[in-house]
Amino acid sequence: MKVSIVGTGYVGLVTGACLADAGNHVLCLDVDARKIERLVRGEIPIHEPGLEEIVKANFSAGRLRFTTEARESARFGTIQMIAVGTPPGEDGSADLSHVLAAARAIAEHMDGPRVIVDKSTVPVGTADRVRAAIAEGLAKRGSDIAFSVVSNPEFLKEGAAVEDFMRPDRIVIGSDDPAAIQAMRELYQPFQRNHDRIRVMDVRSAELTKYAANAMLATRISFMNELALLAERLGADIEHVRLGIGSDPRIGYQFLYPGVGYGGSCFPKDVSALQRTAREHGVELLVVHAVEAANERQKGVLVDKIVRRFGEDLTGRRFAIWGLAFKPNTDDMREAPSRVVIRGLLARGATIAAYDPVAMDEGRRVLGGEGRVEFAPSAMDAVRGADALVVVTEWKTFRSPDFDALRSTLKSPVVFDGRNLYEPALVRAHGLEYHPIGR
Ligand SMILES: NC(=O)c1ccc[n+]([C@@H]2O[C@H](COP(=O)([O-])OP(=O)(O)OC[C@H]3O[C@@H](n4cnc5c(N)ncnc54)[C@H](O)[C@@H]3O)[C@@H](O)[C@H]2O)c1
Repeated sequence: MKVSIVGTGYVGLVTGACLADAGNHVLCLDVDARKIERLVRGEIPIHEPGLEEIVKANFSAGRLRFTTEARESARFGTIQMIAVGTPPGEDGSADLSHVLAAARAIAEHMDGPRVIVDKSTVPVGTADRVRAAIAEGLAKRGSDIAFSVVSNPEFLKEGAAVEDFMRPDRIVIGSDDPAAIQAMRELYQPFQRNHDRIRVMDVRSAELTKYAANAMLATRISFMNELALLAERLGADIEHVRLGIGSDPRIGYQFLYPGVGYGGSCFPKDVSALQRTAREHGVELLVVHAVEAANERQKGVLVDKIVRRFGEDLTGRRFAIWGLAFKPNTDDMREAPSRVVIRGLLARGATIAAYDPVAMDEGRRVLGGEGRVEFAPSAMDAVRGADALVVVTEWKTFRSPDFDALRSTLKSPVVFDGRNLYEPALVRAHGLEYHPIGR
């Protein structure tokens, strides 16, 4: 099939590369000319395991191409997938300006029937707005080309995006147009060879499913973070509690890790946009509201612990930060907890030595202007001369450090662990003072 992808970010590039890998001809469009130039040169602008190989292989095979020309893109794919960003607007609602701009550009240039797919995470009702934008664009041209708008939210996880796209748990298709549904079935057929993973539903349910999934996952995280605060006061160990409840198959182990609050480009904005949608329709989402409030509180937990240990004035203190990315296996720092922790420490006069296995360039871009933030060439270099180590992202490489080397390299042997990576008794046996979450 011929597919155009509008927006070549985390979702668009992974989707385009995976669809090309399945044998389709894919053209990826982006308004960011630098990004497209880099891709054409063979540089992958994001870190995502397995992505580089399939982008290069399919680019060389001529099945995957890149452009900045909206006209070329609108004329290429019979399927047009919109995967542009939907950042939070000032009031917490999803900003649909990129989605609607993409729809208008398709309407301006399309020269034959199109299935237009909303892959971006968009509030309920957006497909109607996309449909109206395209109808208006076609009317302006005096054209009556047939088109259909489908909702197909994306559930991939950064850090495992290629794997998730290639082996999806489910493929949600929101449409009431049999021909469009059939086209989507054909497109996704290679990704569900052992059983049918497609869930066809009406457009609004598909749009809501994406928000429901992210709000549920965020709920589990906030719930555990809240109990972790209580466990600390009670002298209980939240890690025992996690295992104790996770073993119940009705609960399960996933997404029950206490930590420094959820971040990233999806949960914070989607939780907030869902509340906004609900409010607009006269419904107050009490649980979702509490999930967000608990997360805001949790983001301050590490800095609170540091202040309790070292005092409110951190002038002259130096902290090693392990992990800048919002989670392992990505270089994405959007809404990353590391930013909140670093900002909190800088505001109290501290100096930072940060290390991340892949997000160093992104770290320099995001934090470079802050002053008093150094970027260390290795995890151990970051620790040298620091008053404490602060673990923020649970990268595998941080999981079993040489604790003796840590103790002798740190200025004072103190570890704040925002991800509960270590066994408290073991760390303490190496002479380190250990501050985990909820233990
Ligand atoms: N990142 C994730 O893990 C993830 C997972 C599932 C769903 N989503 C959703 O997918 C959407 C995209 O997210 P992302 O992380 O890939 O965003 P991103 O910021 O990485 O990429 C978006 C891209 O769209 C481009 N763009 C903006 N307007 C454009 C236009 N009019 N025409 C062409 N290109 C345009 C931008 O230049 C950018 O490169 C969002 O709605 C997000 O909520 C993201």
